[in-house]
Amino acid sequence: MHVIVVGAGIIGLSTTWYLRHLGADVTVIDPDPAMGASHAAAGMLAPAAEVVWGQELLYPLLRTAADMYPEFAAEVADTDAADLGLTDTGTLVCAGDRADLQALRELRDAQSGAGFATELITGSRARELEPSLSPSVAGAVRIPEDQSIDPRRVVSALHSVFASELLSARVTGLLRDGDATVGVELEDGRQLISDQVVLAAGAASNAVAGAPRLPVRQVWGDVLRLRAPAARTPLLSSTIRGLVNGRSVYIVARPDGELVLGASSREDGRAGTDAGSVHRLLHDGQRLVPGILDCEITEITTRARPGSPDDVPLIGRIDAGCVVSTGYFRHGILLAPLGGLLGAELAVGRRPEWLPPGALASVSPRRFDDAADTAVLPTTTSKRSKP
Ligand code: GLY
Repeated sequence: MHVIVVGAGIIGLSTTWYLRHLGADVTVIDPDPAMGASHAAAGMLAPAAEVVWGQELLYPLLRTAADMYPEFAAEVADTDAADLGLTDTGTLVCAGDRADLQALRELRDAQSGAGFATELITGSRARELEPSLSPSVAGAVRIPEDQSIDPRRVVSALHSVFASELLSARVTGLLRDGDATVGVELEDGRQLISDQVVLAAGAASNAVAGAPRLPVRQVWGDVLRLRAPAARTPLLSSTIRGLVNGRSVYIVARPDGELVLGASSREDGRAGTDAGSVHRLLHDGQRLVPGILDCEITEITTRARPGSPDDVPLIGRIDAGCVVSTGYFRHGILLAPLGGLLGAELAVGRRPEWLPPGALASVSPRRFDDAADTAVLPTTTSKRSKP
């Protein structure tokens, strides 16, 4: 079977990874591989810390993906002899002041309600664990199991593995035969035929003509990369998230000393970096970790996340020749093994029996249609052990 994957961000590449394991020939097409949302992403693998109120459908997906990560990351790292910057130093979700502490307590209740084990600690205990935290931090939720990874290293390793399958080109449309997708058309007019197409173009998925309009919107994020002076490195050991005047902020500490400060969430349609957002990130970040103001800013990146109406991804078959896999919003890095394996199995016609109950319906791209249809094409069955 030949499958074309449209999009070489972390979802397109992880889908390619699993398609190859399933024995498919793959061509992955992107005009600017891995330079979309994956290039901006901080890389938190933090299902508990990602819990926000009212997203019950998301929690089992986050948990399943987190369980899949060690094997996925180890195999990708082995294949390319790469260091993916994986850390397991946990997260501290900090309250900027006493008012934020009340909101943090409520957030922790939501985390507990979702079945995640977390620990509420005092501000002084948090400072024992992370001495760079501000004296004003009023308390924290400690999540020791959280991990992080460097998404740029992951996509770079996958790129190396799939160098010969990667076509640097823009897909402008799906080729159709009746109701079925049979390939893609490129900007230069070339037409490529395939048995299946996986549309994984993130926030750009609706720019592909011939696909049904997907309920994906662009949620812009501005992210800063910082480096502490040598004498103060490492400034942090774990990921710091927090609430400051009710706003969310995070600082991911990489093993090599890089700090990733993020992220704004804007739906103003502006692709340029927003000065107000950068100001707020630095303001809120320094309220939790004053030392970030002594750091060098090495990069500011602005990219669009692909948001869906309910913040749950859109993964499923839209016709006999096309599967979509987009709408991962803030969770593309964590959900990459789940979305990759699911998209790959759907493309080759395997039933994803390893998914948590109800998950296939919760990610169906048709769930917002009047007559929702979550059918998978009939095929052989498989268990998720190792594809
Ligand atoms: N996952 C972090 C963010 O979207 O900012």
